Amino acid sequence: MKILSLVALSLVLQACGQPEASHPAGEEAAQAPLAQDVAPAEVPVAAPAEVALPLVKPADWDAMSYNKAHGAAGAIPSGYMEKINAEGGDTGHLGKHLPYVAKVEGYQVPEGKLALMFGDDSAGNAQHPNAPEGTESYENGHFFDLITVRPSVEGAPDATVTTFNGWPAVGEGATGQYAVLGGGDIAEKGGRNTVYLVDLPDGAKSGDVVRVTGHCRYHGEYVDFITVP
Ligand SMILES: [Fe+2]
Repeated sequence: MKILSLVALSLVLQACGQPEASHPAGEEAAQAPLAQDVAPAEVPVAAPAEVALPLVKPADWDAMSYNKAHGAAGAIPSGYMEKINAEGGDTGHLGKHLPYVAKVEGYQVPEGKLALMFGDDSAGNAQHPNAPEGTESYENGHFFDLITVRPSVEGAPDATVTTFNGWPAVGEGATGQYAVLGGGDIAEKGGRNTVYLVDLPDGAKSGDVVRVTGHCRYHGEYVDFITVP
């Protein structure tokens, strides 16, 4: 449990250059997540699997079952699907990649931003760790490199795509920013206190439901609906 005492959830604002995403998303990336050499023009504005994603949060929405089906359809690498489908995989692997609103009581999230984390331990899920490039088994770094936020409405509303190209800091060209839950060292607890500050769609306000699609560099794409705090 990590209630913020924060006087200062110290923002680690090492980001913010001009948008020049260099990461793919969706199925292609899930199969070949190493994307440093993908040209910006190839970066999709929305995930390739967009047509398969629900536009409006279904009344019977079940993130676990939906993401298992979405993953089996190619959004999650097959090797990781095996872990998800094994005993304990629901919370230990799938739930670990589901986004939720960071519990940043006492901290004013910047205007137009949504503070996200992945793997809500208060819901029984494992917390998603984060790792820098060069880490054993995660040569290209382990973090969410592309996060899409779309209003939960019919039609074709504007969605935002926020990019992260490194951890514990983002480099030039990324549009995302990191903060640290509790304001400590972002690298503590294997990076599990990392807060992703992503762009909200224009006009999004408290109480609105948005669809969040997060792409983990090694484990594929995950979808959930979130209420803007
Ligand atoms: Fe992951």
